[in-house]
Amino acid sequence: MHAQPTLLVTGATGTVGRSLVRRLRAGGAAVRALVRDPATADLPAGVTAVRGDLTDPATVAAAAEGADAVFLLWPALPLDAAGPVVDAITRHAPRVVYLSADSGQDAREADADAPDPISDFHAGIERLLRASGAEWTFVRGGGFAGNVLAWAPEIRATGTVTAPYPKAARSLVHEDDIADVAALALTTDGHAGRAYRVTGPDVLTTVEQVRIIGEAIGRPLRYVEQTREQARAELVRSLPADFADGILDAHAEMERTPETVSHDVEAVTGRPARTFAQWARDHAGDFR
Ligand SMILES: NC(=O)c1ccc[n+]([C@@H]2O[C@H](COP(=O)([O-])OP(=O)(O)OC[C@H]3O[C@@H](n4cnc5c(N)ncnc54)[C@H](OP(=O)(O)O)[C@@H]3O)[C@@H](O)[C@H]2O)c1
Repeated sequence: MHAQPTLLVTGATGTVGRSLVRRLRAGGAAVRALVRDPATADLPAGVTAVRGDLTDPATVAAAAEGADAVFLLWPALPLDAAGPVVDAITRHAPRVVYLSADSGQDAREADADAPDPISDFHAGIERLLRASGAEWTFVRGGGFAGNVLAWAPEIRATGTVTAPYPKAARSLVHEDDIADVAALALTTDGHAGRAYRVTGPDVLTTVEQVRIIGEAIGRPLRYVEQTREQARAELVRSLPADFADGILDAHAEMERTPETVSHDVEAVTGRPARTFAQWARDHAGDFR
């Protein structure tokens, strides 16, 4: 990898991508961001916005031309559309870092009887990348701490969190840790063919997460249990029904079997993963 590589980042306006492009620019890389609307992307100074769309492989190919490495995420588009995009990227760039999900893909390869649409599309893209001949690294994120920003409007309005599965126990990960791992995989050697499982350092139930957000904002919060049916009715307003069911099934399972902690953040970056309490302090302004 060159001292000042050229990198293409997809999803640069999203939770992980925003953190990633800041890090890559600070490290001196030339950063291109594939965005659907450069006028509203609001990227950090020095990042070049390239108009493109993951549903249009020709725009992805043009953006990837001459890049040393590409950060790819797949925002729940149909899997059929991914083959031409992976092809467009790997024809032009030798290295791809894919933001996947920690949902046991290796085991799932052998378990076609347990359909879960989110895990399935990540596993499908991992397969495409393995077969592409490019140098790949999978950054398999655990649940993002940022998912709990969905609670922010209710917390700001009433100091309450209404959510299902109070005992679902998660090792939620700070987006900056995903970005740190991805930045190293993009810009340093030794990560080819590796699948990193990127989680937070502690396992916390829904109720504990609510308490910690309250501590971060200096105001105790109230938790109100929601039924699965109520939660599903809310989720299907913004997600396909099978995705909503997949998320709720996963939370039901987390009450029976808590998520576990991975030490891959420390192995890759040399320092422990950020805690959920740290994440809550970093985002306290969103909940006040
Ligand atoms: N949330 C979790 O707990 C979790 C856990 C593990 C893995 N993941 C995976 O992480 C990924 C999402 O990452 P994130 O949360 O950082 O993203 P995000 O905040 O959901 O933002 C989505 C990004 O994708 C871009 N995008 C959407 N449709 C596009 C299109 N057709 N063409 C080009 N860009 C498009 C958006 O750009 P615009 O500005 O154009 O809208 C935005 O930058 C998903 O694949 C998800 O499965 C999530």
